[in-house]
Amino acid sequence: MTQSNMPIWASAVRQAHQLCAPVLEAGCVAIDATSGNGHDTLFLAQRVGKTGKVYAFDIQDAAIKATRKRLLESGLSERVSLIQASHAEMLSHIGPRGLGAVSAVMFNLGYLPGADHDVITTAGSTLDAIDSGLALLRPDGVMTIVVYTGHVGGREEADAVETHIVSLDPSRYDARLLRSMNRSGEPPYLIAIRRVA
Ligand SMILES: C[S@@+](CC[C@H](N)C(=O)[O-])C[C@H]1O[C@@H](n2cnc3c(N)ncnc32)[C@H](O)[C@@H]1O
Repeated sequence: MTQSNMPIWASAVRQAHQLCAPVLEAGCVAIDATSGNGHDTLFLAQRVGKTGKVYAFDIQDAAIKATRKRLLESGLSERVSLIQASHAEMLSHIGPRGLGAVSAVMFNLGYLPGADHDVITTAGSTLDAIDSGLALLRPDGVMTIVVYTGHVGGREEADAVETHIVSLDPSRYDARLLRSMNRSGEPPYLIAIRRVA
């Protein structure tokens, strides 16, 4: 591997995939908390295999449609439960049998590219969803959160998410922040959490 191919130098979205890939074995359960245009849902569906299951959430009709189309085109829609609901409700959709049983939970915050920029993830539901996702993670399971601060409301959500994650018990969760220090503008960054016990 050359230096430029190493995960640390990848984009936040790519880093999220690289961190989740090793825990996504065939037959496992994974969650896309913000399906959007379906890129992350497709990635998870490819990884969980024929016997695995992906739960994908989004509140927007346009996102559900875009994700469904992407999955149909790839022939992987059977592996995915596509749910038009807030990710804050993920526990009630997945059920108590999912507690401690999910390999990966992916969040990609902000707005749906190409759609209404007024529909964004917000701290209230995002923090509830993070807590639910953490309760669902199996030991060694991974949660990734791609965070955007360049849109109205993004900085407030990012601050709330960081403050919340800083308070996680380090004997149960290992939380990391991967962020460019010198890119101009407000590039997205990654928060990654591994359940250690
Ligand atoms: C940046 S996009 C996600 C991109 C997506 N992961 C992909 O691969 O294309 C953020 C998405 O979060 C969705 N969203 C906003 N609030 C939400 C909520 N409470 N629950 C679930 N999804 C939400 C938006 O509708 C939008 O589609």
